[in-house]
Amino acid sequence: MCGIVGYIGQEQATPVLINALKKLEYRGYDSAGIAVLDSGYITVRKAKGRLRVLEEKIATEVIRGNLGIGHTRWATHGEPSDINSHPQTDVSGKIAVVHNGIIENYSKLKTWLENNGILFRSETDTEVIAHLINFNYNGDLLAAVIETIKKLEGSYAIGVICENEPDRIIAVRKDNPLIVGKGDGENLIASDVPALLEYTRNVYYLDDMEIAVLYKDRVDFFDEYGTKHGKDFSRVDWDISSAEKGGYEHFMLKEIHEQPKALANTLRARIKTYASKAINLDEIGFNSGWAKAERVVITACGTAWHAGVVGKYIFEYFAGIPTDVDIASEYRYRNPILNPDNIFIIISQSGETADTLAAMRMAKKAGAKIIAVTNVVGSTLAREADLVMYTWAGPEIAVASTKAFTTQLMCLYLIAFQFGLLRGEITGDRLEKLILALENLSGQAEKILSDEASVQRFAARQFNKTKVFFMGRLFDYAISLESALKLKEISYTHSEAFAAGELKHGPIALVDNDTLAVAFCTQSELFDKMDSSIKQVKARGATVLVITYEDEDRFNSIADEIFRIPRTYDELTPVLSVIPCQLFAYYCAVQRGHDPDKPRNLAKSVTVE
Ligand code: M6R
Repeated sequence: MCGIVGYIGQEQATPVLINALKKLEYRGYDSAGIAVLDSGYITVRKAKGRLRVLEEKIATEVIRGNLGIGHTRWATHGEPSDINSHPQTDVSGKIAVVHNGIIENYSKLKTWLENNGILFRSETDTEVIAHLINFNYNGDLLAAVIETIKKLEGSYAIGVICENEPDRIIAVRKDNPLIVGKGDGENLIASDVPALLEYTRNVYYLDDMEIAVLYKDRVDFFDEYGTKHGKDFSRVDWDISSAEKGGYEHFMLKEIHEQPKALANTLRARIKTYASKAINLDEIGFNSGWAKAERVVITACGTAWHAGVVGKYIFEYFAGIPTDVDIASEYRYRNPILNPDNIFIIISQSGETADTLAAMRMAKKAGAKIIAVTNVVGSTLAREADLVMYTWAGPEIAVASTKAFTTQLMCLYLIAFQFGLLRGEITGDRLEKLILALENLSGQAEKILSDEASVQRFAARQFNKTKVFFMGRLFDYAISLESALKLKEISYTHSEAFAAGELKHGPIALVDNDTLAVAFCTQSELFDKMDSSIKQVKARGATVLVITYEDEDRFNSIADEIFRIPRTYDELTPVLSVIPCQLFAYYCAVQRGHDPDKPRNLAKSVTVE
């Protein structure tokens, strides 16, 4: 959803900006640009297409300057083009702006500026910001930015430079992430931590409506009214390699393979062995008061919502508590009935998804207790929620979410088990067995990954299918949803998920010889039902892939192919059964010649509506 960077220091800014933008390309990649200031003059270079197009464009020129801003775009206002790329400048070209977000009142502001004689060149909402800053400029860029943000409605993270003020960059955010990197004789801004790691590990997470003014040797912070305040920095302890591909062809493949380690990390700090194994959730203030909760409400988007669908089954099954799961973009426009006795779980890998944050804020207003399950330390969600449970999956760069999903599930199991114990739904003995089963999942995931080659071979045979339907019941239905999303978003194959029992109510009309039907068969009590669903689609010409346990034979004669997962409790299978489907989606995308890390029309974190 656009990545912004900025640099001020001793180095030439251009290579630093390009290098930092490379780490943010996952956020948007339909155009890119930089603005660099030297000797009182800003040079702007922009190009439609991936960052490499911009790199090629500037390869033969020397763009000097120790201060600059850069942008990689995911178009919202105006098609991807050179002119619509950022940075955008004011009419004089003295002020340059990069922006991530959406200015909702931009057409009103644009009309007002046009009535004041401003000629617009692009179709972007960002150009409005550049003109407004110029309009408000009286020799103090900070004052002009403060005046400008009073007029802006919507969401933004902005970096601004001005020819008249060659010693500083101004940055401000509202509802969009922005981080300041504190270096030694140099300072940076970026939308996300990976862009900063080569330069510094000391970062300031900007708050909403907080303004940072970066000089090469210091950073000053102000509130939206211009009052200066102090701020502490945080230390990022990621290993640089976790933001690199580490020998894998794509981030997505690397992240799929990181799941065994990520699952173990998610569990590690939360399992304690006293006399017996127990779960420790002090981090979310878990206590006996939770027993009073009447209901759990889970809200999220995309893959995180699918984790929530699994979560509904988990909470009802293990904790015996009514649980609703909602798509955040729907929730925010409904009239949801919430009360302070509800436990509200918000799931988000990035912690920056606009719809998810809006749902969280609604629930907070209603007085619900908010627990955030997120991967990103310092994200808006983490900072605004009452309680935070980190997934500890490590940075997830690929647009398609994989390790974030399985670690989100792990967090939900832990909360539900503890809840179940508290509510008398789970005995101490059973809890111990369940914890052991959770601990085994990491090794079991490793085992599935060791048979990657057979998934790759199957994808090589099936990638041209025009329709892929995923079906299952209960937990398997939830995983059907996630598997269908994974396949469609990176391979562009039409794929859908059905609760297998719904087939006969409509979807079966679509099944023909060109259909691949993927049947999840891990819910033992429903094997007979799945058997008959499989026969129904087979009778209509579908090729059938079954995903079941490694020691389960009953589908051997009706499946065209079987992916096998190690035996665990039926209710824990989602963590495992999704893995072959992540690999299948990945290899179909590669076979079709697509870049799985940068699927068309998508961006990693959706910070706009
Ligand atoms: O960062 P979040 O978990 O809040 O993101 C939610 C969705 O945008 C995300 O899961 C999206 O659906 C992914 N592309 C799925 O792979």
